[in-house]
Amino acid sequence: MNILVLGSGGRESAFAWKISQSAACAQLFIAPGNGGTGAYGKNINLNPNDFEAVKALVLKENIELVVVGPEEPLVRGIHDFFLADESLAKIPVIGPKSEGAILEGSKDFSKQFMARHGIPTPGSESFSNESLQEGLAYLDNHSLPIVLKADGLAAGKGVVICQTVAEAKEELQAMLGGKFGSAGSLVVIEEYLTGIELSVFVLTDGDNYVILPEAKDYKKIGQGDSGLNTGGMGSVSPVPFADQAFLDKVEQKIIIPTIDGLKKDGIDYSGFIFFGLFKVGDEPLIIEYNCRMGDPETESVIPRIENDLVELFMATAKKQLKDYKLSISPKNAATVMVVAGGYPGDYEKGKTITGIDNVRQSVVFHAGTVLESGVIKTNGGRVIAVTSLQDNQFDALQSATADAARLYFDGKYFREDIGFDLV
Ligand code: AMP
Ligand code: GLY
Repeated sequence: MNILVLGSGGRESAFAWKISQSAACAQLFIAPGNGGTGAYGKNINLNPNDFEAVKALVLKENIELVVVGPEEPLVRGIHDFFLADESLAKIPVIGPKSEGAILEGSKDFSKQFMARHGIPTPGSESFSNESLQEGLAYLDNHSLPIVLKADGLAAGKGVVICQTVAEAKEELQAMLGGKFGSAGSLVVIEEYLTGIELSVFVLTDGDNYVILPEAKDYKKIGQGDSGLNTGGMGSVSPVPFADQAFLDKVEQKIIIPTIDGLKKDGIDYSGFIFFGLFKVGDEPLIIEYNCRMGDPETESVIPRIENDLVELFMATAKKQLKDYKLSISPKNAATVMVVAGGYPGDYEKGKTITGIDNVRQSVVFHAGTVLESGVIKTNGGRVIAVTSLQDNQFDALQSATADAARLYFDGKYFREDIGFDLV
């Protein structure tokens, strides 16, 4: 069958890499893709939020399966758009309808959902401009630090951690005043957790689910987890501190109540659910849902999945996950993200990338790259994810880090410490 992957990052490169290995895949299209995805299929330059353009491509190329990488088209209702169109309605879309994507699209909705279904999460209250005075009073009695979250999608920038009440009051007013546009017209004020973060993923068909390999993402720009937050500087899978007893708790206390809660609320959800978790002591708490896979977690998770990804997606679309046996490699994956100098602040694009052929023990997943007249150039902040899959964690970390060093472009930066804190 012909398959379309929507998106352009390292996550979509990993999907495309794996899908292209499937015997069930005739032609693969990636839209818009990046400078590396052309190796797995055909790049089509369109915006995944332009549903009419997606429709035209799907009909022209006889696409029979659509995999949606990023959250924005899902929150905007691309799956609903397909279902409402006679010519598209039968084509499986991997990713929830907007009624399910709201788990990521509205933090206030997701916090209410967690509370309604008894899913462990830090305490919180939401405030809008109308309730600003209550919000300021609420902050007066809040423990420190204080976490403020813009309700809507804010390109990964909508979470601010404040060390003082005064700072939190200023931030609340700034958010409600439009700092993040309409995404901040409602603000969730949340208790701060002290613990260690990890990401757990399921793929669900609405009734049943498979649990994918867990991963840990390194969000800070600097060595030793210092400096500004980024989209993610690297990842590892498996996560050593998430032993089976802990993962069983995650399933019982978080995954099952989420899947059941969706059913109770009448939300027909099919696609990925990303659980952003904290391990506090031995207990899991959830701080967020995403309606898609993580990036760069996907780059560590996908190489550990031994099943045919197209089969897995079709089983999801046909609601056949009940008897599906996922086969996970016991090997360790490590991903190091190579980024542009200046990221996550301002950075330049258009730098020529060399050394990709020198990579020895890793797979290179392009992210912010573009192919221009046969030359690979930088085209984003997160440029290339380097993933190594090895028998033990130390070897995976070492080879991914060494291979990241083999790439070169002007201003290149990567963290040399990804995962070594866990060994
Ligand atoms: P998010 O954009 O929701 O992924 O949040 C960004 C980061 O903020 C998370 O990865 C955490 O490191 C941090 N964070 C979010 N919520 C909390 C919380 N309740 N306590 C401590 N840190 C948090
Ligand atoms: N790596 C975190 C995310 O994809 O949101």
